[in-house]
Order: sequence, then structure tokens, then C-alpha cells
Amino acid sequence: MSTEVPPSLDDVRLRLSRLRERAEREVAAAPDAAALGALEVKFLGKKGELTGVLRALSALPPADRPRIGEEANRLKEALLGSIESRRAAIEEAALASSLAEEAFDVTVPPAAVPGATLGPKGHLHPLVAIQYRIEDIFVALGFSVMDGPEVETEFHNFEALNIPAHHPARDNQDTYWLEGGALLRTHTSPVQIRMMLEHRPPIRAIMPGRVFRREAIDASHENTFYQVEGLVIDEGISIANLISIMKTFLREVFGRDVTVRLRPGYFPFVEPGFELDIFCVFCEGRGCPVCKRSGWVEFLGCGLVHPEVLKHGRIDPERWSGFAFGMGLNRLAMLIYGIDDIRHFLAGDLRFLRQF
Ligand code: FA5
Repeated sequence: MSTEVPPSLDDVRLRLSRLRERAEREVAAAPDAAALGALEVKFLGKKGELTGVLRALSALPPADRPRIGEEANRLKEALLGSIESRRAAIEEAALASSLAEEAFDVTVPPAAVPGATLGPKGHLHPLVAIQYRIEDIFVALGFSVMDGPEVETEFHNFEALNIPAHHPARDNQDTYWLEGGALLRTHTSPVQIRMMLEHRPPIRAIMPGRVFRREAIDASHENTFYQVEGLVIDEGISIANLISIMKTFLREVFGRDVTVRLRPGYFPFVEPGFELDIFCVFCEGRGCPVCKRSGWVEFLGCGLVHPEVLKHGRIDPERWSGFAFGMGLNRLAMLIYGIDDIRHFLAGDLRFLRQF
């Protein structure tokens, strides 16, 4: 015969309330999610302490059992709630501390680049500096500045510019084709088409940007270079307007009159078309690698916008006419700064960049 005295209702209640007190204390002190998980198992798991206390239920008179059962359930709910809110508090604290650790002060001046004399602030790349200068000149003349995508469609880069497939003009601009028929634009002229399709005339805009060609690279040819496109469309635009704008621009950018020559040039998207060359400042016309011993540096293509191109831009050629030009920014920078090899621009050599 057992001598053990069966627990009374009060005994079980007391054990439950002690259990609750201890559990609440430990949960409140749990340092992290892992410790919380362990406490949940310890107190509420299948073989946990609450189950242990409830085992004593069978020894209670049947009438008391449901009441203790209910109290045990409430205790379980309350503990689960405490564990959850402790978990949320731990997560919040972890987030706050990682934010505090990762915070950085954007006002602290950066350290100087080791070995460089550029200083912590750096400065504009010569091509960017020239681009900004060109933008300022044209904005003062009433032009707006537009952007276009570097990855283009065949339509914008060629077809709408009157250069259908198999047209020999495509050979002059050997193309990097991308999957699915897209391409890296070979010039900034596709932005003309985008401009016409998006804006009604009168139009007066320049469109600077990077272009790409599969070219043999030498002192004056890169496969990645910069152009600035210009487009003016209005009523009664003629070659006189084109020449006047070009002269004004060149005088502004060089700070003096420069010797230029205009020769007939073929571009399918203008008619008539011209090439504008600048007298070579390196050899004063005697002939050097930059001007390919000709004394002249090819600088831009220009002409009156072809009526077919206006039609592609949904502009009525009976009413409107315009001129366009496309200049090589690298070549201009070479002339302004006296740089004798176009490859310096993208070489990333600090000895070159420090000079500007
Ligand atoms: C064109 O790209 C025409 N889209 C320009 C144009 C626009 C003509 C509007 C008429 C009306 P072209 O292929 O000639 O034309 O290039 C224009 C300028 O880009 C050249 O004069 C030259 O300064 C520069 N350029 C051309 N190829 C290279 C190259 N490989 N590296 C550096 N600059 C280049």
C-alpha cells in the first residue's frame, strides 16, 4: 500500500502558480531566440514541466479536474504570449543594433586615394567636362538637352534613319548586335527619332551620349566613344541656319575663330549632307597621326534632315524642315586639351587624369 498522500487541489494550484512565476522570469531574461526556443520546450513541450504538473491531475477528485485543466490551459496561453512578445522585443533590438552598427556618417570626408594626387573630392573626367561645356553653350542658344538609351532597336538606329538592311552605310558603323535583335547604338542619331516621336515641332535640342562601334582602334578611333547630336526643326530652316549655329558653337567652345572646312558628306538621314573638319592643331596642317597626315581632323557630320526621316518621326515634311549634326566629343576634347591619342580617355590611367 502506498503511503504517498495524493495532492490536493490547492497543491496543484500552488505548483502551477510557481511554475508560471519561474517561467515568466526566465522568458523575460532570455537573451536570444535560441534561448527562447529552449524555454518553450522546457516549460510547454511534450515532456515539459507543465505536462509534469498535469500528470498529477489523475490523482485529483474527478470534479476538480476540469477546473485545473482550464487553469493549466490559461497558463499555457499566457506563457506562449510572453514568449512571443519577448521574441518580438529581441528581434527589434537586433535590428536596432545592426542599424546602429551599419550607420555611416555621410558628412565625413573620404580618405584620399593612396598614391593619387587627385584629392578626396576628385574632379570631372575631361570628356564629362567638355560635355557640360557643350551643353551650356547650346542651352544659352535656346536648346534643350535630351537623353536616349544606349541599347537601341534596329528601327531607331538604322531603319527610321533611312538605312535599311544591306544598305552600304551600315558597313561604316560596324555594329555590336545583342541577343534578340537589339544593338548597342552606333551613333546618337537614333535619339533624333525618339525626339521627333515624343515632341512636336518646333524642336531645338542636343542629345549627348556614349556610342559603340566594332572598329579597329588607333590614335583617333575608339570602339566606345561619345557623340553629341543636334536637331533643329522649324518652319523655313535652311543650310544658312546650320552654318550659323556651327560657327557660333565653335567660336564659343574654342574661345576664338577656328579654321573649319565643310565638304559634301553622305549620310542617308540628311540631304544634302556635309562633313565638317577642323584644322589640326597638333601639326598646324603639316600632317601627324591624329589627322592621319591630312592636316584636318574629321569632327562632325551634318545636313538637312531627310524628308523620309521626318516622316518616320511623324512630322510633315511639307510644312517643317530641319538640320541635324553629330559631333565626336572625344575628338573635340583632344583638340581642346591637346591630347594626341584617343585611347587615353578610357585607359583609366591616373597620370593622365590628374592633368585636368
Ligand atoms: C555619324 O555618326 C552621324 N550620325 C553624324 C550625323 C548626325 C550626320 C546628324 C548627319 C546628321 P560619323 O560616323 O561620321 O557620323 O561620326 C560622327 C563623328 O563621330 C565623327 O565626325 C567623329 O568625330 C566621331 N567618330 C566617328 N567614329 C569614331 C571613332 N571610332 N572614334 C572616335 N570618334 C569617332
